[in-house]
Amino acid sequence: MKFFVDTAEIADIKDLAATGLLDGVTTNPSLIAKSGRDFMEVTKEICGIVDGPVSAEVVALDHATMMKEADVLRRIADNVCIKVPLTIDGLKTCKALTGDGTMVNVTLCFSANQALLAAKAGATFISPFIGRHDDNGFDGMDLIRDIRLIYDNYAFETQILAASIRHPVHVLESARIGADVATMPPAVIRGLFKHVLTDKGIEGFLADWARTGQTILK
Ligand code: G3P
Repeated sequence: MKFFVDTAEIADIKDLAATGLLDGVTTNPSLIAKSGRDFMEVTKEICGIVDGPVSAEVVALDHATMMKEADVLRRIADNVCIKVPLTIDGLKTCKALTGDGTMVNVTLCFSANQALLAAKAGATFISPFIGRHDDNGFDGMDLIRDIRLIYDNYAFETQILAASIRHPVHVLESARIGADVATMPPAVIRGLFKHVLTDKGIEGFLADWARTGQTILK
């Protein structure tokens, strides 16, 4: 499973990239607004930190303007992945861009039929929003499960990018189902490393080691 971080905060991206476990970055207009940074500038900076795909989202709603925006965004760097909403115009844009060799992430997916359409449009990634699905009384994991089944039925190559992940159990369940990618807020990625018994174990080992009076580095 690939790990993407869902943020436009440079410090977090640098910190997580340094682990060697970060495969890409996703942003959206809300995350850009939260960063307080210029969209083009921050996207360029992120693209220089990670080698993998960096999703940058168009804000136009019509196909022609989406194409113009995508053209500006894809010139930022080779690893820019254009993010488009799951609408008819978004999928027309997806089809045109992927046909041209540009990576596309189709976002705001809330049904398996929408995911089927995105795959038919040649999407590189489909982003089903687990947390927001849960928030509205649906089971976000059922959505991931249905999409996995449908994509496997037809050998679609579109990668399932589990998004709107709120906690480590969303990651665990997505991995069990076989989502290709999980995009997570920095705190969720950091949370994956943690276990109380790991901390307790280290504490016990170090206390016993101190009693030996030995050092490894002389
Ligand atoms: O990047 C899209 C998605 O991950 C948003 O998550 O928590 O705002 O629903 P959230």
